[in-house]
Amino acid sequence: MNTVTSTNNKQTTETDFLPLQGTDYVEFYVGNAKQAAHFYKTAFGFQSLAYAGPETGMKDKVSYVIRQHKLTFVLTTPLRMNNPIADHIYKHGDGVKVLALKVDDARSAFEETTKRGGLAYLEPTVLKDDNGEVVLSGIHTYGDTVHIFVERKNYNGVFMPGFREWKSTYNPPSTGLLYVDHCVGNVGWNQMNPRVKFYEEVMGFRNILSFDDKDISTEYSALMSKVMSNGNGYVKFPINEPAEGKKKSQVEEYLDFYNGEGCQHVAIATADIVATVTELQKRGIEFLNIPASYYETVLERVGKIDEDLEPLQRLGILIDRDDEGYLLQIFSKPLEDRPTLFFEIIQRKGAKSFGKGNFKALFEALEREQDARGNL
Ligand code: FE2
Repeated sequence: MNTVTSTNNKQTTETDFLPLQGTDYVEFYVGNAKQAAHFYKTAFGFQSLAYAGPETGMKDKVSYVIRQHKLTFVLTTPLRMNNPIADHIYKHGDGVKVLALKVDDARSAFEETTKRGGLAYLEPTVLKDDNGEVVLSGIHTYGDTVHIFVERKNYNGVFMPGFREWKSTYNPPSTGLLYVDHCVGNVGWNQMNPRVKFYEEVMGFRNILSFDDKDISTEYSALMSKVMSNGNGYVKFPINEPAEGKKKSQVEEYLDFYNGEGCQHVAIATADIVATVTELQKRGIEFLNIPASYYETVLERVGKIDEDLEPLQRLGILIDRDDEGYLLQIFSKPLEDRPTLFFEIIQRKGAKSFGKGNFKALFEALEREQDARGNL
């Protein structure tokens, strides 16, 4: 039985009250930003871009900004205890705090979302330096995660006021990562539909795909998921909720260790997944192992693809097809000691979906890891 529901994909003719130009940056609160920046540069091929800290007038925290093509990460560490950043790390471990969205008008984004029920996180704030101005505003989403609206049309500096350019003599080559494809949030029991409503009503998103627990279940555990997209499709936020199974859902394990709702994975686009994953594995990034049996039947399921199967199988890359084309994807192991945030690397060849055909193989692989941790 096919229980996936795809809702109307057509652009609405109404004016989009929250026009988004895409993801501006993802900010992580981490225990040691200096070392995290080195890790993301070395392992993932990011370049140094900007720095803020006591030397730039930021007394209580440091932030390193790193970039690869259109993908910008901010890594932030508190310098002292008893502040919201230190509390965030104590509670959640390293994780995503900010999913920042690029807008033309941050004041309007704040007004339009808060008047529809969005909870204010940051009132519109103008930051200025010799390179112009950046306007920021922000609202809360699931857990302690926030969306910051970034208006930078009147700014020519490297990142934003308060930061200085970070030049480094250490510049590992790119691994071919291009931009954020989607970011997934894990929410608690019965919280998926309220969060879907939030994205619809407060941010003007649409539910473009839904998966119920019959789609996403293994022998042991289950979850439900709805994919939310903004009007132009540049920003996509799938929302996961645990579902009842024989054993503990992977979403529950995340919620236990993150101590609440949060970002489960960031999916990053590449134009050549075989080259990207080969390089990432060489640099020490670990991915979920996929059983050989997956590759025995995969081409019967997805049909003809451009790539040879051999490197896909060797690297553990998954394949899925929808009405519009196919996609190649792979999932890293958690990037921290807690079984929380991980990355997906995705190459789309026409497909606009999220790899439903891989869910079972993927979740069985996740459960083997969960079982090894004693949490299944
Ligand atoms: Fe994903």
